This record gives sequence, C-alpha cells and structure tokens, in this order.
Amino acid sequence: MSISRATPLRVAVLASGRGSNLQAVIDAIEAGQAQAQIVAVISNKKDAVALERARKHGLTDSFVDPKPFAGRPDSREAYDRSLLEILQQHDVELVLLAGYMKIVTAVLVNAYADRMMNIHPSLLPSFPGLDVQKKAIDWGCKLAGCTVHFVTEGVDEGPIIIQAAVPVFDDDTSETLAARILVQEHKIYPLAVQLFAEGRLRVDGRRVLIEDAKPGSQAIISPV
Ligand code: GRF
Repeated sequence: MSISRATPLRVAVLASGRGSNLQAVIDAIEAGQAQAQIVAVISNKKDAVALERARKHGLTDSFVDPKPFAGRPDSREAYDRSLLEILQQHDVELVLLAGYMKIVTAVLVNAYADRMMNIHPSLLPSFPGLDVQKKAIDWGCKLAGCTVHFVTEGVDEGPIIIQAAVPVFDDDTSETLAARILVQEHKIYPLAVQLFAEGRLRVDGRRVLIEDAKPGSQAIISPV
C-alpha cells in the first residue's frame, strides 16, 4: 500500500550545470505529477544555469563556494557538512543529485542513506564515471540508457531504482546519443521522485523493490 502524503515531499536538488533534470522535476511537480516541493537548489558553481532555473521558479537557491574549504585535509567532508546544514535547515527529506559534479562524502551519504538519488546517463553497472555516452558507442553497445539510483559512497554504485534503455545508431555521436538518453532521464527522474513520495521504494541489499511496479512489457531489441 502506498502512503498518501499529507504534505508534499521536501526535496533538495544539488546541481552544477545546465539543470535540465532539475527542470524536469520542477515541471513534473508543477504539472501535479510528483507530490513534492523543491525547498532548496544548491550548487558548487556560482554561474550554474540550474540556479537560474531555480530563481525563475521562485525556488530557494544557494551557491556554496568550495574555495574556502580547499587545502584542508577534510575539505570534501567540511564542504558536505555545510551542505548538510542547509539541508537540515530546510527539513529536506529527499536529495537529488542532478548533474552534480562533486563526489559526495560519507557525511551526506550517511545522513541521507536511502534518501539521496542520482541520475546517470548509462545503464549501470556498465559505464560509471564520465563521458559514458562515448564509452557506450566505442564499446559497440546496441542499447544505452540511463539509471536513477540511490547514492552510496562508491561513485555510481548504489542500488538501482529505475532504468530506461534507448537504441544506439551506427551514425551516433556522443552528442546525439546523449540527447536521446536525456529525453528518458527527464521521464525517469520525476518518476523516481513520485515513487519515493508515495513510499513505494524499499531497499533490500543491492535491490530496490518497488511496490505495485508494472515491469515494462516490451523487449527493446536493437537493431531490429
Ligand atoms: C545528465 O546527463 C545526468 O545524467 C548526468 O549529468 C547530466 C546533467 O544534465 N549526471 P543536467 O544538468 O540535468 O541538464
């Protein structure tokens, strides 16, 4: 049984760049497709487009400069402690990494265990890390895709919540494949938020069990 929420889920988004996934979540919330509210958008980049998007929608945005923390032996943890303070001030229940180009430490991972998600443009566990669309093409993959997963300390390693697959075409470049994958990212990230808001996700070791999930019925065969 899914939980019907009395109040919208309180979400924070951490983003470093253009923020198209942030936008997809904003749009889903505004369209009533996700029972959530974004209570904080935080970036490590002052000029991140994601922050502009937040402001445009009247959301609270924060730039947390990593520079003052640099040089300390615990610089990454200290940075995350300052993020954690902001998250706690806003009573954040779910944290979304959306193009957040900084590795999160145990400080955040432990505070938000099973309550922090990331979106990654590959079918994990294939191709963690960077430049993954190029890696999928170079490897000769016929299918590529994207993954929403819970965040653990290992980069792109946490339990998988949702994946979407797309075909890889012979004439694909990293850019054309990334664009095809991005369309799916914008669908599955809001969906993962809504599943969380409904209380339908249960982490069981490496697996995320989804209450009342309907498995996709169509096989994706590429090429046909
Ligand atoms: C997306 O491809 C996401 O999967 C990856 O970084 C990119 C961020 O894009 N983690 P955007 O900033 O959400 O547009």
